[in-house]
Amino acid sequence: MNGSGILIMAAGKGTRMKSAYPKVLHNILDRPLIDYIVKNALSCVDTPERVAVLVGFGGELVEEHIKNNFPGVKILWQREQKGTGHAVMTAQSWWRDFENLIVLNGDLPLMRNISLSNFIAASKNYDCFITSFITQNPKAYGRVIREGAGIRIVEFKDASPEQKNINEVNAGCYAFKVASLQNVLGGLSNRNSQEEYYLTDVLALMNAKKMTVNAFIMPEIEMQGVNNLHELYEANNEMRMRIINKHLENGVHIMDLSSVFIGADVEIGGDVAIMPNVHIWGNSKIGANSLIGTGSVLNNAIIGEHVNIVAYAIIENSELKANSKAGPFVYIREGSCLNENAFAGKFVELKNSNIGQNSKVPHLSYMGDAILGHDVNIGAGSITCNYDGSHKNKTVIGDNCFIGSDTMFVAPVEVENNSATAAGSVITKTIPENALGVARSRQVNIAGWTKLKNAKTNNKGE
Ligand code: UD1
Ligand code: CA
Repeated sequence: MNGSGILIMAAGKGTRMKSAYPKVLHNILDRPLIDYIVKNALSCVDTPERVAVLVGFGGELVEEHIKNNFPGVKILWQREQKGTGHAVMTAQSWWRDFENLIVLNGDLPLMRNISLSNFIAASKNYDCFITSFITQNPKAYGRVIREGAGIRIVEFKDASPEQKNINEVNAGCYAFKVASLQNVLGGLSNRNSQEEYYLTDVLALMNAKKMTVNAFIMPEIEMQGVNNLHELYEANNEMRMRIINKHLENGVHIMDLSSVFIGADVEIGGDVAIMPNVHIWGNSKIGANSLIGTGSVLNNAIIGEHVNIVAYAIIENSELKANSKAGPFVYIREGSCLNENAFAGKFVELKNSNIGQNSKVPHLSYMGDAILGHDVNIGAGSITCNYDGSHKNKTVIGDNCFIGSDTMFVAPVEVENNSATAAGSVITKTIPENALGVARSRQVNIAGWTKLKNAKTNNKGE
């Protein structure tokens, strides 16, 4: 393959994270930080085969995650992590057939697509082109030494006190002409304070061979590496506010910017109002003019237009169609659907259930594996007994049914159209069309019973 390949180095342990998990799987908002980098890389290539992720520490987890979420992206292994130069050498059999190689640190989640593509476009004239940024707080970043026409990088741990004062630093994204890189890579050594093969030493080797090396100065905020939990927290905040600002610019009303969290892939229509303490994650989509009430958490929720999510609704992998209403205090979970004008209210749980148009489940009910037709009313406290201990069974309730309070549906069971149940019934067999199902013991009144009881116990109840 000619053209460019992009190698993402994600094999390091991330020691400073103080975690048993690989650094790149720590979340920014609701996605592992590697996702932002892989997506950025993918935005700059014509096919995912041009992107590779180099894994090592916790590599099985990273590999599985990438395979499940980014099909086509190549996984390469660096079994022992001997530094970023060693990482690039290890991947050589993958990149040697490209003309140009882009190398990205795996901990640069804030770099924007436009910045990466501008950098790649500008890199074409150089044997080696790197990203840098100017900062008042150069931390432990590698320092960029500008000498004559060329530049080189000195790692913080190897820098002299004067070099440590330099405020232009290496940002960790590089572009190489493959032929030039191959020419110098063998010259890397690990004779430095960390006994690692530094990719950054390649610059000095290239200078010595009169190759062209230069740096592209990037916005500081985009090039912050994530090395510890403080930096993860800062990256999380930056990403959160970027996403919120994007939605504000698109006409989404967000009352309290400080308490709302929205994932990067969420789509929200115009004039949606989002109340405080709302979290919207995954591939959720919210149609125009809907209200997301306070305390609600949505994950992969498809919300139509003019939907009213009153407050405190948890909605996962489910759909609420136009003009439906949910909450307060409702849990709508995997595979459920509220059709147009339907309502699921207070202390209601829906699981894998379809609530037909204009149907209502207003209070204290569990509908699991249920299919409700249109214009059904479910009385308070009604429950589908969908699980018999080994299987999940279906309850089907036809159109225009009126379900009395506290009805138990022992599934599998069906209520045909235009039927009703008496309150407190335990329904175990089909109710035919237009019928009332009564399945409870008859009431018996024992005359004078309380008087008798009070007399016996000498109770002053009279
Ligand atoms: C690196 C740069 C430094 C730069 C900084 C920018 C080197 C030697 N130093 O330092 O100049 O200012 O990034 O953020 O490159 N990795 C591997 N295999 C390894 C070692 C690292 O895949 O053997 C990966 C890590 O997972 C990480 C990336 O390479 O994603 C960078 O490694 P890290 O240890 O974070 O380098 P820094 O010390 O931040
Ligand atoms: Ca780093």
